[in-house]
Amino acid sequence: MTSNRRIVDRTGIGLRLPHIAEVAATRPSAGWLEIHPENFLANPHAAELLIELSQFYPISVHTVGVSIGSASGLDRSHVRRVRTLIDLIDPVLVSGHLAWSTHIGEYLNDLLPLPYDEETLRLLASHIAEVQEAFGRPYLVENPSSYVGFGASTMSEVEFLAELVRRSGCQLLCDVSNVHLSAHNMGYNAYEYIDGLPADAIGELHLGGFTPEEDEANPGQELLIDTHATVVAEAAWNLYAYAIRRFGPKPTLIEWDNDIPPLATLMGEAARADVIAAKTIGPEVHRAVAR
Ligand SMILES: [Fe+2]
Repeated sequence: MTSNRRIVDRTGIGLRLPHIAEVAATRPSAGWLEIHPENFLANPHAAELLIELSQFYPISVHTVGVSIGSASGLDRSHVRRVRTLIDLIDPVLVSGHLAWSTHIGEYLNDLLPLPYDEETLRLLASHIAEVQEAFGRPYLVENPSSYVGFGASTMSEVEFLAELVRRSGCQLLCDVSNVHLSAHNMGYNAYEYIDGLPADAIGELHLGGFTPEEDEANPGQELLIDTHATVVAEAAWNLYAYAIRRFGPKPTLIEWDNDIPPLATLMGEAARADVIAAKTIGPEVHRAVAR
């Protein structure tokens, strides 16, 4: 596994295709950039700009098509294509979701949930080992945004993630907004969830916007939907401060995938995360090491 480690001293932004030319031309002061490799694999011009940007910014690769939870096995040709991009940009972090999104070669346009039980643990630990071997570096697994649970689950999400870390040697990407959203939707305490995560395994934090919607199954109640289409909510900022107090400084990213705003709006959100980190843990220690 690579031992490349670089300091990330400011919050990063998700780099989406509508911003890539502007970012290449103006080089905003984002601490680092996170990309979805799937956006670049079939877009040689964007891939060229990305390779250029990788000389100026630490890059994180956040996969959306590596379906580690798929019972029908990993799509190895996709994993190989992602590895090709990894070799070109030498990312500081490589991550993906605790979910499944493919089944026997079919791509489902969603990140689907998994039951938290022994069978899923075994499947995921084996797929993560394969992915870490194929990518030649640790893989970070992100906590999902949840709307329903499985009656078949025999452990909580936090217990499941901690055991997955122990068995596979993976790290965790804690999406703080997902913790708030899932806690609201599923009826648990977001702060206790943060308390239960293995702090040493946290390699990255996400912050993204969500959208309240009427819960059709429970009229009068609100469901929070993980839209990544708006600014980070106050409750998520408060939970972020709590998380970095517990975990220490970690590479933090602002995600925005739909109704993409001007680049300046994203940079404003990143600056807010930096201010909170400086107030919470001090400017001199707000420096995170990414692999
Ligand atoms: Fe996320």
